[in-house]
Amino acid sequence: MRHIMVLNSKGGCGKSTLATNIAAYFANEGATVALADYDPQRSSLDWLARRPDTRPEIVGLAAFDDGFKHAPRNADYIVIDAPARSHGKELTNLVNHAETIVVPVLPSMIDMQATTAFLDELKHVGKIERKQAKIAAVANRVRDNTLIWDDLDEYLTKARVPYVAALREAQNYVRAYTRGLGIFELPEYLAWPDWDEWEPLTSWIKSKRSQP
Ligand SMILES: Nc1ncnc2c1ncn2[C@@H]1O[C@H](COP(=O)(O)OP(=O)(O)OP(=O)(O)O)[C@@H](O)[C@H]1O
Ligand SMILES: [Mg+2]
Repeated sequence: MRHIMVLNSKGGCGKSTLATNIAAYFANEGATVALADYDPQRSSLDWLARRPDTRPEIVGLAAFDDGFKHAPRNADYIVIDAPARSHGKELTNLVNHAETIVVPVLPSMIDMQATTAFLDELKHVGKIERKQAKIAAVANRVRDNTLIWDDLDEYLTKARVPYVAALREAQNYVRAYTRGLGIFELPEYLAWPDWDEWEPLTSWIKSKRSQP
């Protein structure tokens, strides 16, 4: 069973967007998937409540209340949506639930600075120090031909964690979230540019590089 957590203490960087899309991706591959929401804001569970019955099933876990207690025993993937502002003991507890951590980062100076502090804190968490979890960064809400995107690209290239994908800013994410879908479940003519951008992220998750 794989545990993939989307984590960044910075709010609004796309944790729930990535978590719901990762869950939908693997569900569409035929895997048994649970989506564990550690955020009492419930964005992932709200998304799941809107998911049509006709789509591959994803089991929702109100992890902020009872952890993985109701996780299916045969789950292939538990995708974990983490809350913002996780620090100290709470951060250590969260990290203990995953071997693979995806960190979304927005093209904004505020977000890059917050992420620097976050990655510094993360690297001192025992599980990370012992190399029992792998981390990757993902640029999110990228807009081509903006200076701040060049800055983010450079920042993530130099960061001490692997930089595996850059996802554009697209209404497809908003549309998919509203309908309880992943971008992989939108029509190809609309979503193919996003599918292409996700390929390196899903490849990384499927590879040994994302596992301790
Ligand atoms: N690539 C994208 N393109 C367009 N909109 C996006 C993209 N990624 C995220 N968003 C939007 O940005 C907002 C914040 O995203 P999201 O809720 O996933 O972030 P979060 O990190 O989970 O926030 P919080 O810290 O509050 O839990 C949402 O309105 C979401 O629809
Ligand atoms: Mg969220």
